[in-house]
Amino acid sequence: MKDILLHNGHIKIYKRENSKFWQMRIKPPKEKAFRESSGCKSLKDAKEIALKKYNDIISKKTFVVIPKNTQHKYQGKHLLGIKSLNKSEIEYFLDYSDQFVEFNNQKIKKNDILYGKSIFNVFFEDSTRTRTSFEIAAKRLGADLINVSVKDSSVNKGETLLDTIITIGSMDPDLIIIRHPEYGVSEMISNTINCSVINAGDGSHEHPTQALLDALTIKKNTGKFKDLKIAICGDILHSRVARSNIYLLKKLGCKINVVGPKTLIPNDINTLGVSVYYDMKNGLKDCDIVMMLRIQKERILGIHIPSEKDYFNEFGLDFKKLKYAKNNALVMHPGPMNRGVEIDSKVADDVTRSLIQNQVSMGVAIRMACLKILIDNKDNY
Ligand code: CP
Repeated sequence: MKDILLHNGHIKIYKRENSKFWQMRIKPPKEKAFRESSGCKSLKDAKEIALKKYNDIISKKTFVVIPKNTQHKYQGKHLLGIKSLNKSEIEYFLDYSDQFVEFNNQKIKKNDILYGKSIFNVFFEDSTRTRTSFEIAAKRLGADLINVSVKDSSVNKGETLLDTIITIGSMDPDLIIIRHPEYGVSEMISNTINCSVINAGDGSHEHPTQALLDALTIKKNTGKFKDLKIAICGDILHSRVARSNIYLLKKLGCKINVVGPKTLIPNDINTLGVSVYYDMKNGLKDCDIVMMLRIQKERILGIHIPSEKDYFNEFGLDFKKLKYAKNNALVMHPGPMNRGVEIDSKVADDVTRSLIQNQVSMGVAIRMACLKILIDNKDNY
């Protein structure tokens, strides 16, 4: 009888010559293998026993050991934008996140490297992905995370932004994550209180952890950046994601096309070193990746834009327009998506082409890396 392999070979079930009983060889990841008799004559029973034994071991162990080093190649106390980072700092964030990608694949996702640290999520704008992924990232590393719901806070009683932040600052946080509709608020806060600050989006300016998670997704799915051609499409004018991605991807050697209606392309686009297109056919030509953006209706004031139907016909990504890009080009979207406006559901949900859910997973790993690096740096100041 041939050996039976389960769990990618971590479990082998086999028989010794002249024995009626099935034997088990179990090799948990990063541990020595051991052999035992299953005590069963039936293969089905032996499989069950081996799987139970393996799962019991896996569920109790942490196999990804996160080094407790506190010296990092990025030495900043804050993460306010991508523009000020250099290539090796960006690469450090991506490389350092690898261990958290692996960690997040474990059954038990809990560590204590940020035990005793206090982190505040302060969001003055709606969020699903960024707010919750920072929360899960902090909790997986053992920190205490406090969500400040601005809708229920004393801001509604007339308290200023500054007073709110100074109040939180008096509780001695290690790190504040801030999202605000105005440009530069996270920088202002970093100059006001004595803890690390992460910009989780300031108006149409920057969203650095989104660009880092997008880069990690690209790295994991293509293995390279140099000379990748990436189309960023849609409402470039109001997109902090577009701006942070342009800064980051250009530093790593990608070629960027921006594509959208003239009214949604910023005036300073020529200073960003990208090629500009006003139609999808030319803009997507030879692209490896097509990154779609949401029309930010909440920021569009006094600008003429086509109806949603006309916009979809001209700029919405469906399979017909995706054919303008390279064969097998990959699709990204930072979310939240407006299905049927900037992207067709069939494209968004096609797991062979769309990286959208993978972006969300990579977001947790990137945010774990950011929390650890910045809090270590703050403690070393
Ligand atoms: N991509 C992004 O920032 O999503 P949320 O607005 O849901 O956080």
